Amino acid sequence: MEVVIQPGSAEMASLVADEIERLLAAKPDAVLGLATGSSPLAVYEELIRRHRAGRISFARARGFLLDEYVGLPAEHPEGYRNVIEREFAAHVDFADGAVQAPPGAVSSAELPDACAAYERAIAEAGGVDLQLLGIGSDGHIAFNEPGSSLASRTRIKTLTEQTRQDNARFFGGDIDSVPRHCVTQGLGTIMDARHLVLLATGSGKAEAIHQLVEGAVSAMWPATIMQHHPHATVLLDEAAGSRLQLGGYYRQVLADKPDWQGL
Ligand code: GLP
Repeated sequence: MEVVIQPGSAEMASLVADEIERLLAAKPDAVLGLATGSSPLAVYEELIRRHRAGRISFARARGFLLDEYVGLPAEHPEGYRNVIEREFAAHVDFADGAVQAPPGAVSSAELPDACAAYERAIAEAGGVDLQLLGIGSDGHIAFNEPGSSLASRTRIKTLTEQTRQDNARFFGGDIDSVPRHCVTQGLGTIMDARHLVLLATGSGKAEAIHQLVEGAVSAMWPATIMQHHPHATVLLDEAAGSRLQLGGYYRQVLADKPDWQGL
């Protein structure tokens, strides 16, 4: 796992956008794993900027979202399908239907088949080349809450009180408006992506980041499964990295890294 500590989210976003620009130049039909939440927003802004400057095209790329709330009306502005459209997809040149989200709006009887179909769609697209990730303060990735199977696939989950509290800010501060359930790619699904790129900022993520990078692999801190991934990059600001035991070492590795080596 590579740990990259940067002064702030602008520098983090620029490094991730470089990586995506390199990927799309080499493979214009690449499959991007898209995340919602505030952590990847600066990356999307940078990608939009580079698209407008004529540097990146998504015309042949595809995108798959990590997760979706269950039970929100299709037009709800906080539904993740709508969030990704508003924050990113609508501002670049994805083809119609090229960005897909897990099935949050099907009946519970249809859900298992719809989850299996989402897994198939990712596989049929060739699998995810680069998966963007944020992390919850309880160590969840996508919506894989503590206790999630480390081998899980796309399925329905119940959100923890902590996650609903953390996400209430997107629902006017009202926790009762935050759905109780979600459909999320599983940890096994996420681990199939070829490159995992996780971004975290702020001291509220410091313990989760310490566990992710330096803790024991455990379903109690679901993101720790990333320690088993052969190509995982964790980008942090100083605050999110403030509880790392080996912070000095990660900085030294980065300083000594050859220029030609990307993330
Ligand atoms: C939500 C999302 C996750 C995201 C997490 C952190 O729970 N389902 O994918 O990583 O929030 O969000 P933020 O980046 O806003 O801190």
